[in-house]
Amino acid sequence: MLNRKDLLGLIDASASEITEILDLAQEFKNRIKNGEKKISYLQNKTATILFYENSTRTRTSFEQAAKYLGASVINIVAGASSVAKGETLVDTGKTLDAQRNDFIIMRHNMGGAPYLLAKTVKASVLNAGDGINEHPTQALLDMLTMRETFGTLKGLKVAILGDIKHSRVAKSNLFGLKTMGAEVTMFAPETLLPKGIEQLGAKVCRSRQEALDGADVVMGLRIQLERQQAGNFPSLGEYAANYGVDEKILAYAKPNAIVLHPGPVNRGVELTSGVIDHERSHIEDQVLSGVAVRMAALCLLNDARKA
Ligand code: CP
Repeated sequence: MLNRKDLLGLIDASASEITEILDLAQEFKNRIKNGEKKISYLQNKTATILFYENSTRTRTSFEQAAKYLGASVINIVAGASSVAKGETLVDTGKTLDAQRNDFIIMRHNMGGAPYLLAKTVKASVLNAGDGINEHPTQALLDMLTMRETFGTLKGLKVAILGDIKHSRVAKSNLFGLKTMGAEVTMFAPETLLPKGIEQLGAKVCRSRQEALDGADVVMGLRIQLERQQAGNFPSLGEYAANYGVDEKILAYAKPNAIVLHPGPVNRGVELTSGVIDHERSHIEDQVLSGVAVRMAALCLLNDARKA
């Protein structure tokens, strides 16, 4: 059983915890595909979604996940709450706790913010992305999509290309995939590679071809212009030509390799439209995996709270 109050990152997640989440998520994904959208597991529970940053996929899929499980859902947009009047994160957390929330699902621009909230509140905190630190449910949904395709994560070669330095998705995937026995290669401009990433288990490559050689999974990452000062690369056009993935570059991966991207995609920058819409692209399937993984995370944290 998942033996934790909160889901904050994959840095300390064991293989058995990841497997438990993925197994339950796969069951939920199959049930959703069969049209089952009412699984009354979290009736009488309340989930508050507290986002200090924009989101399409993560916010809506957490909301869908909680609603499919029968929970009540409250949405807080930080700009429209008392945060705009100067309320601290800790005081916001205490308020939500006093209202007997069972889950707080938080996205924050500061790395570590969900850890602070989790220490403050009795509710289970789910990290929906904190700065450039982690995005655990995104990596879990990526792993679910890979495992569903290949049957296992062990021994898979996953090539990650793009803005790795500013990517919480890359870090959570690296932690989770290494724990599950996959190999992770990375390629990016020197300016978009975080120092010490090799010590965390990634193989840093010198070319797109080297990174994709024999890959089972090709994962593009968004160029995060909102997190960058200007000057990490000359122009988006040059980035696409030298670091992006088109069909010619994709041919270096295995013939049955799949293409993933957490979204939102900068079309024609990190991936060409031909690759995004390729028959081997699983980008839309990732979105459904996201609902299922978030359902599994809510259920397992709820069980842990009862134990
Ligand atoms: N992948 C992801 O986190 O997307 P959103 O920013 O739309 O939630």
